[in-house]
Amino acid sequence: MNNYENRRARLISSIGVDAFLVFDLDRILPRSIDHEGLFYLTGYTGEGALLICRDEAILLTDSRYLEQAGKEAPELILRHAEGDYLAEIAAVIQEKGIKRLAFASWRMTHFVVNKLRDITGIDLVIAADPVREMRAVKDTSEIELIRKATEISEEALGDLIEEIKPGMNEVGIAFRLGLLMKEKGAERTSFDMTVASGSNSSLPHYRPSLGRRTLAAGDLLLIDFGAVVGGYCSDMTRTFTVGKATSKQKDVYDWVLKATEGSLSKLRAGVLGQEVHQAAVDVIEHSPYKDYIFLSPVGHGVGLEVHELPRMGLDPGVLEPGMVVTIEPGIYIPGFGGVRIEDVAVVTEDGYKLLTSFPRDRLIEIG
Ligand code: GLY
Ligand code: MN
Ligand code: MN
Repeated sequence: MNNYENRRARLISSIGVDAFLVFDLDRILPRSIDHEGLFYLTGYTGEGALLICRDEAILLTDSRYLEQAGKEAPELILRHAEGDYLAEIAAVIQEKGIKRLAFASWRMTHFVVNKLRDITGIDLVIAADPVREMRAVKDTSEIELIRKATEISEEALGDLIEEIKPGMNEVGIAFRLGLLMKEKGAERTSFDMTVASGSNSSLPHYRPSLGRRTLAAGDLLLIDFGAVVGGYCSDMTRTFTVGKATSKQKDVYDWVLKATEGSLSKLRAGVLGQEVHQAAVDVIEHSPYKDYIFLSPVGHGVGLEVHELPRMGLDPGVLEPGMVVTIEPGIYIPGFGGVRIEDVAVVTEDGYKLLTSFPRDRLIEIG
């Protein structure tokens, strides 16, 4: 059994149905909504509908992808579905005698579910998103890809900060960082990155195209970015100053760093994500900046998607070895600016292993 066959067998036996349907098809859906699930279960990078049965897995796809599917996932049974995909899926369901079919309700539209129920009349079993849950714990090859994506990100950031000077524009910096990552082997950036200067840096998910601000001496500069390697994302943030830092900028930075250290001191398998979150909150609550504390979870899983399970501070579960999570506390002061530090760590039995190693023990002055 290869790795993908193993994942499919685990999935189908954990739900106790005849078959599980994974659906990622822009001919029917408004956009791709389970590209990651399809890839995780097959290694196939195109679109289609995957019907996982107990004895075999059938991929329905069209002429855009047939050759690609045969090359990337040769053990799948391929079925050509050019026109009416849903009728084609229904025909396979009938041929296989499937009576109970499960699907991820997080990843399926009401339209598709209703239509399939109408055509087939079978029992459709709603699961939340079991593949996403399986994906929370990574194996060593997945961790290696996230490590590589992080390494490329950090090398690119190292080159970028040598080039940054007052007068550069936020959009230009984002483009340059994206290019550097691609030159170093990234498939793409893992999300639309944040490059936020001056007072823009108090907006946690600022996009450079919103302000197109030009850097000035004395600015805070927050860069939140990542690369994709082998489908897996990195996600990290560093905050700098352009030229000399003020004592307040350094003080805010040092409190965020203490919050990072607080969370990391709790991070290990068996601990509730809420405890890791609370450790960072407790630090900033005792700082002069408690009114400007981050309100989102202190961290999240990262993998095929940049935001995955676990969501630390929201989900009730305990952390498990092999989870790959960010730790990203911040202080955001409107009009002054914000500081965030974001690292990525693998959870282990007795603690964690950081994948990020870009220096962060003090506020770095660049330009
Ligand atoms: N890049 C978005 C985040 O850090 O969660
Ligand atoms: Mn980030
Ligand atoms: Mn993040």
